[in-house]
Amino acid sequence: MRSKGIFLLLLLGALTSYYVYSPIPNDIEEKWKLMFTDCFFRSLSNLADLSELVGLKDYMGVMMFITFAERVVPLSDERVQVTEEMFDGVEVVVYQPSQQGGVGELRRAVIYLHGGGWCLGSSRMGPYDFLSRKMVTDLGAVVVSVEYRLAPAHHFPVPFEDVYRVVKHFLQPVVLARYHADPGRIAVSGDSAGGNLAAAVSQKLLQEPEQEVQLKAQALIYPVLQALDLNTPSYQQNQHMPILPRTLMVRFWSEYFTSDKALFHAMMANTHNSPESAALLKFVNWSSFLPEPYRQAYNYRAPPVVATGMHRPSNNLSHSIADPRASPLLVPDTALQHLPKAYVLTCEYDVLRDDGVMYVTRLRRAGVEVTHEHYPSGFHGALMFTLWPTDFEIGHRMLGNYVKWLKENL
Ligand SMILES: *[C@@H]1O[C@H](CO)[C@@H](O)[C@H](O)[C@H]1NC(C)=O
Ligand SMILES: *[C@@H]1O[C@H](CO)[C@@H](O)[C@H](O)[C@H]1NC(C)=O
Repeated sequence: MRSKGIFLLLLLGALTSYYVYSPIPNDIEEKWKLMFTDCFFRSLSNLADLSELVGLKDYMGVMMFITFAERVVPLSDERVQVTEEMFDGVEVVVYQPSQQGGVGELRRAVIYLHGGGWCLGSSRMGPYDFLSRKMVTDLGAVVVSVEYRLAPAHHFPVPFEDVYRVVKHFLQPVVLARYHADPGRIAVSGDSAGGNLAAAVSQKLLQEPEQEVQLKAQALIYPVLQALDLNTPSYQQNQHMPILPRTLMVRFWSEYFTSDKALFHAMMANTHNSPESAALLKFVNWSSFLPEPYRQAYNYRAPPVVATGMHRPSNNLSHSIADPRASPLLVPDTALQHLPKAYVLTCEYDVLRDDGVMYVTRLRRAGVEVTHEHYPSGFHGALMFTLWPTDFEIGHRMLGNYVKWLKENL
C-alpha cells in the first residue's frame, strides 16, 4: 500500500518536472514564470490532443479555453468609450476617447487584428482590451478591434475577408467622419496571425483603383508571413520554444486552410509545396533575405516540390497556399513598393522571427520605410503577457515601444 503511494508520488513528481521543465535559453528574463506559463499551455495542448483522439471535442475547440478564460466585457469608463458594433456584417469593438475633442479636431485611428493563429483569440480578451485602451489614452486614437470569424469553422479566406470588409467599411469618408478619424492618419496593426492579416490587407488595398483613403502605416508584431517554408532557421532553432512550438504553428497553418490532417502532416515534413507554389519559393528564399546573424550555421535547402498527394482531394488547396492573402511575402517587389511605412517587431526566440526579418529586407529593397525592432531576448506572444498573473517585463517594454512608434509615425 505504502509503496504504491510512494510510486504514485514519484510518478506525479516526474510528470510535473517533465511538464514544468522546458529548455528555455538563459537570456530570457523571468525564466521560471515563462516555464510555468508554458507548462499550462502545453498541458492544455496535450489535453486537446487527447480530447480529439477520443472524439470528445476537436483540438482547437479545447484550445479555445484560453480565449474564454481571458475574456472580459469591454466597458466604457471616464477616459475610454467602448461600443460593440457591426461593420458591414462583421463584429467590431470600437474604443474612442470619452472626452470630445475641440470642434473639427480629428484623431488618429488604428484598426487592430488580434492574434491566435486564425483559430483562437478574440478582441475581447483582457490583453487586447488593455492594449486598445492604452492606444486611446496615450494616442488619443480611435481603435477598431476586429472580431473576425475563425478557423476551423471558417477556413481561409473567410478571416481575411472579414477583416478586409471592416477596413473598406471604415475607410469610407462618411464613416471616418462619424468617429472623428483623420483620413490621413490611419494604421492597420496586429500581432502574430493578426500581423499576417494586417500585412495582407495593406497589400490588397493598394490594388483597389477607386480607393480614396489609403493607410498611413502598418505595424506588424511578430507576424506570420509565409506558409511555403516551415523550416527557416528560426523554425529550426525555436521548434520547442514556448509558447509557440513549431507543431502548433504548423497546426495553425494547416487548420487555416483545411481540416484535412494530410496537410498538417505534409507541412510538418515541409513537403506541402506543389508546382503552383514552386515558382514562388524565390520570395521566401532565406539565403537571400536573411542577414548573416540570423542565418547562423543553417544551410539553405529549398523545400521540395511534390506534384501529387494531399493536393488531390481539393485542388484549390495548393491555390490557397500560394495565395498572397495568406502569405503576404509571396508578392513581387512591385506589389510592395507603394506600401505605407511599416513597423515590424521580431523576437529571437520565435519560429516566426525569419518571416518578419525577411519582410523587413524585402520591404526595404522595394523602397518602403521600415522600423525594425528586434528583441534579442524576446519570445513569441510576449505582448499578450501584460496582465497579472502572467505579466512579463518584456511584454510591457514591447507595448511601450510599439505605442511610442505609433505616436511618432501616425
Ligand atoms: C536561393 O538563393 C540562393 C542564393 O541567393 C540561390 O543560390 C538559390 O538558387 C535560391 N533558391 C531558390 C529556390 O530560390
Ligand atoms: C475551395 O473550393 C470550395 C468548393 O469548391 C469553395 O467553396 C471555396 O471557396 C474554395 N476556396 C478558395 C480559397 O478558393
